[in-house]
Amino acid sequence: MSGFTGWGVVVTGAGSGMGAVAARRFAQAGARVVVSDIEEAAAQAVARGLPAAIGMRCDVSMPSDCAALVGAAERFLGAPVDVFLANAGLSYAGDFLQADPGELRRVIDVNVSGSIFSAQAALRSLVKSPRASLIFTGSVSGLMGRAQRSVYTASKHALGGLVKSLALEFGPRGVRVNAIAPGPTDTPFLRAHLAKVNDDVGTAVAGLVGGLPLGRLVQPEDFAEAALFLASPAAGAITGHTLALDCGSAAGRM
Ligand SMILES: NC(=O)c1ccc[n+]([C@@H]2O[C@H](COP(=O)([O-])OP(=O)(O)OC[C@H]3O[C@@H](n4cnc5c(N)ncnc54)[C@H](O)[C@@H]3O)[C@@H](O)[C@H]2O)c1
Repeated sequence: MSGFTGWGVVVTGAGSGMGAVAARRFAQAGARVVVSDIEEAAAQAVARGLPAAIGMRCDVSMPSDCAALVGAAERFLGAPVDVFLANAGLSYAGDFLQADPGELRRVIDVNVSGSIFSAQAALRSLVKSPRASLIFTGSVSGLMGRAQRSVYTASKHALGGLVKSLALEFGPRGVRVNAIAPGPTDTPFLRAHLAKVNDDVGTAVAGLVGGLPLGRLVQPEDFAEAALFLASPAAGAITGHTLALDCGSAAGRM
């Protein structure tokens, strides 16, 4: 897909994994891209490889960082943001009774509050764009329950309500709001997640793949294509929707 020449795109959590691949794919399709991450060096490394991009630090759990990100994006673009991909997220896996309250709070701070603060800052700019799209990275864990993933699952369920409510509130102002709900995706995040509750990550990955109807993990490139589609005019009638990108994992048990 091409056709994003002249568009301005902001991606959070873009120093690694799906966000980094999506930032590159939007750039390849002609967009000017703001690559942000809590890890400044990672964001800048991704941006350096792109023809028209800046990289900057943004901790999405901090409202002031989110406002600064959007302000910097508008200055870089010389225009409002057209596409904001609220992708940053943290994993949590483990026994609920053993969980450290500080770790649980951080998952909610980043995945829920961070998505809300990102969206608030983004929408202040998006409402000025004629082709505005806000896309969240949810998860199949936002579509169903998972043992040993309780707080992560709760955080991703929250995004479904946010997507629907913001779609209703901002549709009349010209902004489409959707989410992508990836299943197990081959990124550093997945391996870290699995390592918390499995001794052997390779066996855990094989077990996951065996339970997926398409018999493979989602790749970050699948995610990037879904993001480009949702941002594009081809998805112009789609808002308030969460797109499962999961090789069939949410369809049921094999
Ligand atoms: N990998 C999977 O299997 C999977 C499945 C479903 C959903 N997801 C979701 O996809 C998104 C991206 O994950 P990924 O797999 O690419 O992981 P990743 O770990 O490769 O990338 C996540 C990025 O987010 C950044 N980040 C963490 N906290 C942040 C914060 N407070 N502010 C800004 N950036 C922050 C990290 O530094 C990292 O660069 C997350 O929202 C995750 O919940 C991942």
